[in-house]
Amino acid sequence: MSQLTIAIAKGRLQFDALELLKRIGINLTDATETSRRLSVEDQTGEYRFLFAKPGDVAVYVEHGVADCGIVGRDVLLETNADVLQPLDLTIGRCRMVVAALAAAPGNGHGMLKVATKYPGIATRHFGSRGQPVEIIQLSGSVELAPVLGLADCIVDLVETGRTLRENGLAVVEEIFSSTARLISNRASYQLKAESMMKLLDAVRCAVREGVKADD
Ligand code: PRP
Repeated sequence: MSQLTIAIAKGRLQFDALELLKRIGINLTDATETSRRLSVEDQTGEYRFLFAKPGDVAVYVEHGVADCGIVGRDVLLETNADVLQPLDLTIGRCRMVVAALAAAPGNGHGMLKVATKYPGIATRHFGSRGQPVEIIQLSGSVELAPVLGLADCIVDLVETGRTLRENGLAVVEEIFSSTARLISNRASYQLKAESMMKLLDAVRCAVREGVKADD
């Protein structure tokens, strides 16, 4: 069996992703889970983990420095990474939406200023309906933009809706829903087929069990 390198998106997905892996017997020691090391092995040495920014997970897997990765569909649609997506993990469920100030939603006429961390998704969304937009790319706390008058609306992820609510914003429309995906490098999928199938089968069963437990 070959060692598999798995890139995990840091942040909101990380905890659920590691919990899912624990359910199939892949354990990091408590010390490594809480350490600042960005590359660690599991207890058996069968797997190596890289912890990276969500957008970089797709880059690492596409370039083959990681064999597989766990990342949201939102990131895959933004980066258009050339990777295989064999499994929907059903965790990290959220929605990509257009949102605006609840008191003054945009009227959809004229040039719309759109603040977002997802310029590709926002451009494609408004482009598909012929709406002219100016994209203002931010790195985070996007909800501030309409509040401060920097943008008419935002394109961003909503999970609980709390950030929108607490900043006086409301959903104008949903663009798509997103869950975490297990992605694989194209070459690794062939070259490390045995290890890859072992991982995929175990994760697939754990996802099915998880879905049943939620019903
Ligand atoms: C994400 C997203 C929203 C928020 C939504 O940001 O961009 O801001 O979470 O979550 P909620 O619906 O549960 O409130 P994140 O926490 O990743 O931080 P960021 O804004 O710094 O990117």
